[in-house]
Amino acid sequence: MRIQPSILSADFANMQRDVERIASADGVHVDVMDNHFVPNLTFGPQMVEAVQRVSPIPLDVHLMIEDADRWAPGYAELGVFSVTFHAEASTDPVALARRIRHLGARASIALKPGTPVEPYLELLPEFDQVLVMTVEPGFGGQSFMADMMPKLRTLRAAAERHGIDLWLQVDGGIALDTIGIAAEAGADTFVAGSAVYGAADVEAAIAELRAAAAA
Ligand code: DX5
Ligand code: ZN
Repeated sequence: MRIQPSILSADFANMQRDVERIASADGVHVDVMDNHFVPNLTFGPQMVEAVQRVSPIPLDVHLMIEDADRWAPGYAELGVFSVTFHAEASTDPVALARRIRHLGARASIALKPGTPVEPYLELLPEFDQVLVMTVEPGFGGQSFMADMMPKLRTLRAAAERHGIDLWLQVDGGIALDTIGIAAEAGADTFVAGSAVYGAADVEAAIAELRAAAAA
């Protein structure tokens, strides 16, 4: 069980402080948005490089950008732990995953709520992680979509069939009342933005989420 707070809900004027506050987490989830793939804009490689320089924990980069074939390798080259791109944003997801792995990062593919999982099941050995979005990507603080749980079950069964150690990540609306639902459906890697940074005690929120995922 891995907890990865999303700095989308951090204070952008105090990013170093807010990354240091989550040192007990397993990774920091970094949302890159381009105002085209999603209707919101965050930051690009310069900011990711800066966060990477000060972060006590590995960077899990979530690219919500068009033309991932062109841009994703540059993020892998920064030395981040993992690079996630959206299925629709690549013309050749397998080739892009191979490129990301070759550059030393874990390769991860994201599925929006409307994106079916079936076309990717035979390709799973090409990936280290699948991100199942449990909100429409773009903004923090939205409600968890429990109707995505069948996707997680399908992915967990397919990974077992392939005999691979595929991480199943969920992102969107993960909080104390939803994390157990996702864990039960097969998720093992949990992104939480508002549930962590919205808490008075950030470290306690991480510990509580961890306990709720394991329960
Ligand atoms: C949304 C982002 C998420 C966001 C989650 O598109 O991908 O990572 O930060 O925020 P919460 O946990 O508040 O739903
Ligand atoms: Zn995200």
